[in-house]
Amino acid sequence: MATNITWHPSLSRAERNSLRKQQGFTLWFTGLSASGKSTVATALEQHLLHLGLAAYRLDGDNVRFGLNKDLGFSDKDRTENIRRIGEVAKLFADSSTIALTSFISPFKADRELARTLHAAKAAGSTDEPIPFIEVYVEVPIEVAEQRDPKGLYKKARAGEIKEFTGISSPYEAPENPEITIRTAEKSVEECVVDIVAWLEAKGLIP
Ligand code: PPS
Repeated sequence: MATNITWHPSLSRAERNSLRKQQGFTLWFTGLSASGKSTVATALEQHLLHLGLAAYRLDGDNVRFGLNKDLGFSDKDRTENIRRIGEVAKLFADSSTIALTSFISPFKADRELARTLHAAKAAGSTDEPIPFIEVYVEVPIEVAEQRDPKGLYKKARAGEIKEFTGISSPYEAPENPEITIRTAEKSVEECVVDIVAWLEAKGLIP
């Protein structure tokens, strides 16, 4: 824990959003491996970019090649993975960008921590909390296992991968997500349309 550090204030979030002509927020996708998180988040990111909005996706596999390459899949490492991503997403959203995160993020408490980080105010700040929108990518595990695009469920069933989410490590489904998408019932395009409609209705995108 560092000591003798001081918070340096900057533009207010409202001023920054006004200058960038865009509101920053975080769309936090959570769901089983092969639920479709990354696929839907990628399609949504492209849609938002085509609307002329700044959007950036942080992805589980990709982030583990760099920032989080020191972390594995123990409960402790997953918690640290999600804590760091919560902080990074907050920085993107604070810069008036739409942050899309696609991580399994299996533990409720870790997702709640990410939400709390977005609501936290710096000392003396009058900023409103950064909107944090949890998107539950719901799919029956049988469907995810049947898809198995990377062959990971097969390996997990064979005991070749330890602590695999849904098989040998828990997934705690959200109880009150802002948005639920069901990728076994709707196409990727339909899921994107539903999320965009929700964002428009909340006035988060024009
Ligand atoms: S977590 O739980 O949020 O920290 O996981 P995340 O950072 O999203 O990484 C999930 C991707 O890592 C691959 N993978 C595993 N997933 C779950 N359990 C175990 N043991 C595991 N080992 C490797 C897998 O490709 C996950 O990607 P997705 O896109 O979810 O399938």
